[in-house]
Amino acid sequence: MESILANRPALAAEVDKVAEVAGYLWQKGWAERNGGNITVNVTEHIDDAIRALPAISPRYPIGTVLPHLKGCWFFCKGTNRRMRDLARRPMENGSVIRILDDCASYEIVADAPVKPTSELASHLSMHDKMIADGQGYKAAIHTHPIDLVAMTHNPAFLKKDVLTNLLWSMIPETRAFCPKGLGIVPYKMPSSVELAEATIEALKEYDVVMWEKHGVCAVGPDIFEAFDQVDVLSKSAQIYLTARSMGFEPTGTTQEQMDELKRAFNL
Ligand code: 13P
Ligand code: ZN
Repeated sequence: MESILANRPALAAEVDKVAEVAGYLWQKGWAERNGGNITVNVTEHIDDAIRALPAISPRYPIGTVLPHLKGCWFFCKGTNRRMRDLARRPMENGSVIRILDDCASYEIVADAPVKPTSELASHLSMHDKMIADGQGYKAAIHTHPIDLVAMTHNPAFLKKDVLTNLLWSMIPETRAFCPKGLGIVPYKMPSSVELAEATIEALKEYDVVMWEKHGVCAVGPDIFEAFDQVDVLSKSAQIYLTARSMGFEPTGTTQEQMDELKRAFNL
């Protein structure tokens, strides 16, 4: 069977972006084994011929009801699939799913019956929120950045906005590109609906969400921009830990300097 990407350059381009970012995640050391997941809302690239395709899986429950996802289609990394494999063969390590009319279940349509990521409830909840927000955001990423996850093992950093202010103060770009900062979700069972709900709550207030002692979630207009959000925060974490490993506590930019930046960039 021919891939649904054949003769569909726009859809193929979105999947190519996912493959490129999957490679970055592996290179950065953020994607041990099957760690992390990516989903992209590809509904705008779905034509009548794809809509007519039969399901190649049973109907699976999402675990939650997401009213904005009616009629939506997603490319999803497969559960237990490696990022480094997704990078080279995206359609063998991910699949395209459609959300059914009950907004509570989905089926796999192409290319292969690769079951989506175990964090699908969190991903689809993020997509539901992105549609509700109406900013045209299409991509969600969850990954395990070593530096940022390590910081969540210090209880002092888990208090509200402590980590956000610390990361902002390491380099001005972090404030500029991540103006709402990093929200913390206290540890919860991976892949749970409870984790998905807490993620959405945190995303109302913050750009990026940290799952304590697990990983981060970010969203964006496309998967490049979602990745950039995490990369910017990870750079700040790297600067912090580099200073600490040189034996001193970094001073950080002052509150005054950050306020000036906030005014100048209208953040
Ligand atoms: P999946 O392989 O199911 O995507 O899970 C990876 C992960 O990071 C779970 O939090
Ligand atoms: Zn994870």
